[in-house]
Amino acid sequence: MSWTITVNRQAYKLAEDKRLIDFLREDLGLTSVKDGCSEGTCGTCSVVADGKLIKSCLMNLSRLDGAEITTVEGLSPREREVYVHSFAECGAVQCGFCTPGMVMAAKVLLDKNPDPSREEIARVITGNLCRCTGYKKIIDAIELAARFLRTDEALPPEGDEARVGDRSPRIDVMEKVLGTGKFPDDYRFDDMVYGRALRTPYPRARVDRIDISKALEHPDCIAVLTATDVPNNKIGHLIPDWDVMIPQGEITRYIGDAVALVATGKRESLQEVLDLIKVDYTVLEPVLDPFEAMKDGAPRIHEKGNILSSERLVRGDAHKAVREAAHVVTETYRVSWQEHAFLEPECAIAWPAEDGGVHLITASQSIYDEQREISMMLKLEPERVHIRSALVGGAFGGREDMSVQHHAALLAWKTGRRVNVRLSRYESTLVHTKRHPMTMKMTTSCDEKGRVTALIAEIIADTGAYASLGGPVTQRACTHAAGPYNFQNIDISGRAVYTNNVVSGAFRGFGVTQSAYAMECNLNLLAAKCGMDPWEFRFLNAVRPGDVLPNGQIVDPSCGLAECLEAVREAYESSPYTGIACSFKNSGLGVGVPDFGRCILSVEGGKIHIRTSAACSGQGVAQVVTSIVCQTLDCDVSHTVYELPDTDRTPDAGTSTASRQTLFTGEATRQAAEDLKAALEAVGGDLGKMEGMEFFGEFGPPTDPLGSAKENPISHIGYSYGCEVTVLDEKGQIQKMVGAYDVGTPVNRTAVEGQIEGGCVMGLGYALTEDFANPGGIPQFKLGTYGLFRANRVPEIETHIVKGPGYVDVAYGARGIGELACIPIAPSVAHAYFRLDGRMRTSLPMEDTFYRKKKSD
Ligand code: FES
Ligand code: FES
Repeated sequence: MSWTITVNRQAYKLAEDKRLIDFLREDLGLTSVKDGCSEGTCGTCSVVADGKLIKSCLMNLSRLDGAEITTVEGLSPREREVYVHSFAECGAVQCGFCTPGMVMAAKVLLDKNPDPSREEIARVITGNLCRCTGYKKIIDAIELAARFLRTDEALPPEGDEARVGDRSPRIDVMEKVLGTGKFPDDYRFDDMVYGRALRTPYPRARVDRIDISKALEHPDCIAVLTATDVPNNKIGHLIPDWDVMIPQGEITRYIGDAVALVATGKRESLQEVLDLIKVDYTVLEPVLDPFEAMKDGAPRIHEKGNILSSERLVRGDAHKAVREAAHVVTETYRVSWQEHAFLEPECAIAWPAEDGGVHLITASQSIYDEQREISMMLKLEPERVHIRSALVGGAFGGREDMSVQHHAALLAWKTGRRVNVRLSRYESTLVHTKRHPMTMKMTTSCDEKGRVTALIAEIIADTGAYASLGGPVTQRACTHAAGPYNFQNIDISGRAVYTNNVVSGAFRGFGVTQSAYAMECNLNLLAAKCGMDPWEFRFLNAVRPGDVLPNGQIVDPSCGLAECLEAVREAYESSPYTGIACSFKNSGLGVGVPDFGRCILSVEGGKIHIRTSAACSGQGVAQVVTSIVCQTLDCDVSHTVYELPDTDRTPDAGTSTASRQTLFTGEATRQAAEDLKAALEAVGGDLGKMEGMEFFGEFGPPTDPLGSAKENPISHIGYSYGCEVTVLDEKGQIQKMVGAYDVGTPVNRTAVEGQIEGGCVMGLGYALTEDFANPGGIPQFKLGTYGLFRANRVPEIETHIVKGPGYVDVAYGARGIGELACIPIAPSVAHAYFRLDGRMRTSLPMEDTFYRKKKSD
């Protein structure tokens, strides 16, 4: 039996049947075809077959005899230019993992319908998920591409400029549209072998015996490792409580725990070898409820007990203020897990280094976090763990902890081979952290004029099996629980509690998404109680420059929250079924934690190399630092070379978390560029005379710890502010989202809009549709049924970028935007439904809406 298939005009005669995706990626090296799920859900593997859009992960070669397949690599030169230009111009690319699939969907449509409507475009990309952009700019890009393709209009010349505050196209658009940019699994090596973990089927069980003898006999087996092979079995982002593998005799803590690791010569053999490992378990009752976990006598998940961390923030006398208040609202809110669902499943490739250490290619939020944890595990000096980043296919907080990197490094170190460890979509969901479920009891009060007087809050967070960032996330939920309002009396307590559930950790908003939902809903109930319009209520109570935030910090002159409210007022008043909520988010770790952005600018080969480890997971760090260099030096983009993070080349700029890189690494880059500029002037502007010179920038001013005795402590060096209005129709369908956000100076306006639109759609999923079912501590997750918004369901999104009255001269006045827009969405939607039917929905995802029926129905 044999088949003939034509791929990008080249015919192939094939005798072995396999999935089309494997043929295209592995045999032909066409890495524009991405494997985001292997389940037919995400569309990243989309190709054109005889004029139809197909998902290559679902199709075997035997079903395609005689077919003509086109991938992005097979587009005509004109199509390539048009798609690159259009996606660049419209800001349609962030992480880029979905992009080639989107281009294929566009091609199928535009080949048949050269002038489609926006609805038709949305429909054709409905099978293609994008977790980053919110789809709006992708639809814009396809609309623009259609115009160029049907008119033969010449493309405008590509610009070479990037300046702070402009709309210059991202520097990484071409490689992402054409699929030539490499994510870890796109790297090809002849000597590569493959690794995978065996995971416990039980959230809590004693591992009585692990028998690897049969697995070792498999002809493709290279190695089977267990905990006894690990130099140091405990690692962790902040607290080393996470087992690399659960040792024989120990108890598992959640369903993602690894028990053994396997390396084989072929990826196809991995499961066969894993199936030959025999593990005897004694199954134990898991602890799945944080309130149960806190009870005396509950089984201890970790030796020190089940409370990971406790917080208490007190200013003024909240209890007295509540007693004396004109109006008081007390309500309890419950929010569930949210899955990051970045489209690129985790993958790392590791191999032995000449110095006895390891090399790795990874995709994470910080190569230096990986270096620290892997060196801890292998008991090596950090300098012997050499990590370089590939492109990162989205993160949103879910790539802060180790997932595959440590397993790849261990396998490489033990076997001496080059090992690729990649997670399946389901494994990815088990392994990386989730947004914390929280139960939040909120009491808010105001006087008879509607001025807020006090907040009393109690927050319990289910942090799951391991610490990850559960402590700081719960802390941030507490520090921001009073919102950007003039509360001068607060009593906020929070606890992060271990359970046998999936691990909770960082996720866009970092705890603030949860507590802001509770606070903003309570404010809307409070406004209703005192008979005030919720917009007026917020305008009265919103902080302004010179005010004092609930944490005691004085609001800086650039705060534009009142301006944001003014920008959405018309939208808020446009219909009886609108909802409103505000948000604020810190830029940087703050609260006394050392925090640095760093950058080296070096002159090499007559160009300025921009070297920083600040990870770009799609949000656009590369563009930020490039724009800042070009602005400071008044040079063009082509005079610069942006380097991907590499522990041997780029300085530690901290993690891409806490909306910090634009401000921290942005300012570090500006300082390095100022120094380079001075040196350039000294040599008469001749860069050629500066070959080999390096300029180092570092920015990390101190902040004050929580509980500081200072009256006005600096908790964070910057905050961004925003508000969002949801417009419903009378059936409860969202017609429009209108947001206004103050991020200081937007370094790149298109990128800031992209962050806002993407955050908005992610927030809509959190509010309405994303339901992470976890019965018995075992996630029942499928990407296709989890509830991600697809292009055809996204409402119109209108974005206003607003500036406050003053300016803070750091990083050209820029502040972070990564997390901010995700925060006000759920409470804004809840408020709109409250105005529609009089019921404040106090849990997420909301039930009984246009988008999701009541569970009991
Ligand atoms: S990889 Fe084929 S649809 Fe996701
Ligand atoms: S740009 Fe679409 S998934 Fe990241």
